[in-house]
Amino acid sequence: MRRAPGCPFDPPPAARAKQEEGPLARVGLWDGSTPWLVTRHAEQRALMADPRVSADITRPGYPSSAPIPPGGTSISFILMDDPEHGRLRRMVTAPFATKRVQALRPAIQRIVDDLVDELLAGPNPVDLVDAFALPVPSLVICELLGVPYADHEYFQDSSKTIVKRDVSTEQRTAAMGKLMSYLDDLVGTKMEHPADDLLSGLATRVEAGELTRSEAAQMGVLLLIAGHETTANMIALGTLALFENPDQLALLRDSDDPTLVASAVEELLRYLNITHSGRRRVATADIPVGDQVIRAGEGLIMANDIANRDAEVFPDPDRLDLRRDARRHLAFGFGVHQCLGQQLARLELQVVYSTLYRRIPTLELATDLDKVPFKHDGAVYGVYELPVRW
Ligand code: HEM
Repeated sequence: MRRAPGCPFDPPPAARAKQEEGPLARVGLWDGSTPWLVTRHAEQRALMADPRVSADITRPGYPSSAPIPPGGTSISFILMDDPEHGRLRRMVTAPFATKRVQALRPAIQRIVDDLVDELLAGPNPVDLVDAFALPVPSLVICELLGVPYADHEYFQDSSKTIVKRDVSTEQRTAAMGKLMSYLDDLVGTKMEHPADDLLSGLATRVEAGELTRSEAAQMGVLLLIAGHETTANMIALGTLALFENPDQLALLRDSDDPTLVASAVEELLRYLNITHSGRRRVATADIPVGDQVIRAGEGLIMANDIANRDAEVFPDPDRLDLRRDARRHLAFGFGVHQCLGQQLARLELQVVYSTLYRRIPTLELATDLDKVPFKHDGAVYGVYELPVRW
């Protein structure tokens, strides 16, 4: 949902007003449909964990944010239901488990340190998105998947188009086709020359007949997009939010307490909630909620941005407070589709937030806040550019 102009970190005031009225409200979509907006934290958690709620974009009533291309959209298991969703997700869970991810800490610290070295040696002011926020998660996910980082401009271009809301169906379909054929080729290469990476693991499963090559490529597309678009936006938007809250920035910069860093990451995830289009679902049966009933076939939009500002769960919710316990936030969703890469995202953000401001203590915004271009038109919220100086 579009955020209020002049108030770049807060969800739209109209949605907040609906939250005060009750847990469910009708909203109008681009195609004239009127799905339910689920406004509150408790009801969102209950519905996202409810087996009568489907994430299948091809079901009638699904509240799509844009026209669905003919032939559907191939973005793998994020838009599927169990058992198919679970079958595919299980094939890639191991590399994202907490222990495996924690083992990447030294490698991620090295990537971040090298990029800070390059920042300090390069032009000042500079665009933090281009020089730092995008390369960190891109380098990490490329390494994990086994995608050559040298191709990053190529795949970032397509993935930008896919997550942009204001593009035509033709443009999105073309970008998706490009990325699919890139990943399909790469899966082919891994079948011939396997390495120690996630795509090679999928290629082995293709050879064993557990997975089709197209399913493997679709999973690659999902992981590549999800792996860098989100975290990059959290790095840049999080930095901007800290610039606007200098007391909180000082807290983070002057502390070497890993507990504070971890809680800062959760609080920034809660406060910024970059997946601001809401979790989209459709009911497969009648579901009573309070004194209302969601009917089978009706669309649901779980607005996790406003759930994360629900005062019942987070007192004084509009205050960025890095010391609060924000772990119940819904920034990674909830239920079977809860973010697969959340431990990796947490680790990257912990390393970034505990390194960048300490190593460049005078880092500041190099323009006025009202000149920063925000991604109001993206499925993932953030900034297109963030000019900084030190
Ligand atoms: C700060 C960064 C991130 C945020 C805020 C985020 C947010 C989310 C959210 C809200 C969902 C749930 C979608 C739904 O219920 O409809 C999700 C799912 C997912 N995320 Fe993330 N994500 C982040 C980083 C990552 C990373 C680094 C990866 C790694 C590749 C990743 C991979 C995925 C995948 C594969 C799913 C689909 C899970 C499923 O359907 O079972 N995400 N993410």
